[in-house]
Amino acid sequence: MMRTIDSITDWQTLRKSPIFENKSVGFVPTMGALHEGHGSLLRRSRQAHDISVLSIFVNPTQFNDPNDLLHYPRDLKRDLDIAKACGTDFVFLPKAEEIYLDKFRFNIIETELANRLCGTHRPGHFIGVLSVVMKLFNLIRPHKSYFGEKDYQQYLLVKGMVDAFFMNLEIVCCPTIRAEDGLALSSRNALLSAEERQKSRLFPYHLRSANKLEQIRQELENVGFSVDYLEEFEGRRLGAVRIGKVRLIDNVKI
Ligand code: PAF
Repeated sequence: MMRTIDSITDWQTLRKSPIFENKSVGFVPTMGALHEGHGSLLRRSRQAHDISVLSIFVNPTQFNDPNDLLHYPRDLKRDLDIAKACGTDFVFLPKAEEIYLDKFRFNIIETELANRLCGTHRPGHFIGVLSVVMKLFNLIRPHKSYFGEKDYQQYLLVKGMVDAFFMNLEIVCCPTIRAEDGLALSSRNALLSAEERQKSRLFPYHLRSANKLEQIRQELENVGFSVDYLEEFEGRRLGAVRIGKVRLIDNVKI
């Protein structure tokens, strides 16, 4: 039976209990509003481990825009149904007051990649991400943790942090799951109007094209996207665009 735990002390007691003795633990950290992309990570974790843990925590420190935090989609009941259907054993639902007992005094700062691509447009975002992921890893103590390739920069930074601090876990990067029209699944897609959603398929379409970056930017702007960045980096083409109030990110192998 799936169990939910919303106190850090309860989780720590449970994690030390015989239930976890000699068991392999898989972990999927999320901010909720689960979709099939998360489902694929949860199923990978379920298949590979004795115990599969999901965390749902809308992390305030990674939102550089207070409006984005306010409107971030939340639906715990639906999330729990999805987690259960994916065979999750434990859902960890920590509270911000407990996660940030230190009142944000301690942070993980990466000084190169975190300031490029999404980092240029979302100052402080990756400090928030890396710091909360470090806290969650120390609490959950997983053997492997599963991340989506859609957030490729996040994956590289988390993997880099784990390597840099000799942390005893493996980061697994899992393929992006797309809607039939090619749009990468994302919790923020729920915030698109019908018209914006329809147009959004053009983002991955142009990202994949053989055109040069400048031409792709032009095509995207012509159909109404505002382009935060389009860049080629380590064999991938990465981009972030805004449509209405929603920011979409994606990347493809080149
Ligand atoms: O990818 C996300 O949902 C978040 O950035 C993460 C890794 C759960 C940290 O809050």
